[in-house]
Amino acid sequence: MSVIRSVVAGAGAYLPARTVTNQELATQLDTSDEWIRERTGIHERRIAADGEYTSDMAIAAAQEALRSANLNANAIDLIVLATATPDETFPATATTVQARLGMTRGAAFDVQAVCSGFVYALAVADNFIKVGQAKNCLVIGAETFSRILDWSDRTTSVLFGDGAGALVLSAGRGEGTQADRGVLTTHLFSDGRHHDLLYVDGGPSKTRTTGVLRMEGKEVFRQAVTKMSEAIDASLSACGLTAQDIDWFVPHQANQRILDATARKVGVHPSRVVSTVAHHANTSAASVPLALVTAIKDGRIKPGHLVLIEAMGGGFTWGSALIRW
Ligand code: UT7
Repeated sequence: MSVIRSVVAGAGAYLPARTVTNQELATQLDTSDEWIRERTGIHERRIAADGEYTSDMAIAAAQEALRSANLNANAIDLIVLATATPDETFPATATTVQARLGMTRGAAFDVQAVCSGFVYALAVADNFIKVGQAKNCLVIGAETFSRILDWSDRTTSVLFGDGAGALVLSAGRGEGTQADRGVLTTHLFSDGRHHDLLYVDGGPSKTRTTGVLRMEGKEVFRQAVTKMSEAIDASLSACGLTAQDIDWFVPHQANQRILDATARKVGVHPSRVVSTVAHHANTSAASVPLALVTAIKDGRIKPGHLVLIEAMGGGFTWGSALIRW
């Protein structure tokens, strides 16, 4: 049976120039390099420069993705940009990206699923392609979480960083089997009852301010491993696959201990796990595409490989996808 598949045609990433080490944070906060490394695996993070916005990072990642796909911006039918830190309350940052890429056709919008944003954006774009409404899509995750942190709160500020990553998805044909190239399956979940565990204490409607991130880290940790494992099981069983079939597991990069516990729970060998959390910290919606691009550039992810992605974030939202590269 011939089916439409969303095939990865290109990938790109961008990180701000400024690196902030744990030692630097320890000069301003009651924390230490040792505590942060032991509890999170994070060594350093990148922080956007003054005047550098989510759209700037998204554009840089998108341009690299377009170059690697050998496509002009006007070949793109749809931009889906995942962010919880848009340049402005409106318009969507995706439309700023659209304009600055020189793209004068198609549609562009943002999706808001916090750290799960990239998995959500990928699922949206995949479905547009599968129903024939788009041929080429840019899927971007871009965040400046440094702008919504309470820098006096050691329990949250040491955990996050800024950055962007992007994929170009292009319509291709497959046989409807798990041997096809492209997105094989996506699974999205949310449960709004968990609002108070991870949220931002402001917003245009409630406070007319942006607010800052608040988190009950321990409880988020506990729920993250369970929820992400369930999402992974959903993807694997939808395709009749097992953890042993995975070439690369590219999880949301929040905490090395969460990555290790999730990989252990679902049975993926540590040598198959892509981890960038040491150098990027948690970049929310940018974390999965940043990790994907790292593993593409260093030669780990190759055409034909089976790649499992997952994420979990505020809401709660969570999800997973299987992609044959
Ligand atoms: O993408 C989804 C978003 N978020 C996450 O995935 C984060 C999930 N949660 C986590 O990663 C972890 O729970 C944290 C890294 C946030 C915290 O690690 P933990 O092992 O759960 O530590 P804890 O919250 O139980 O705190 C242990 C101690 C506390 O001190 P007391 O009460 O034992 O005296 C904290 O006050 O560590 C203290 N602490 C710190 N100490 C030094 C908390 N933050 C820091 C810090 N430096 N930065």
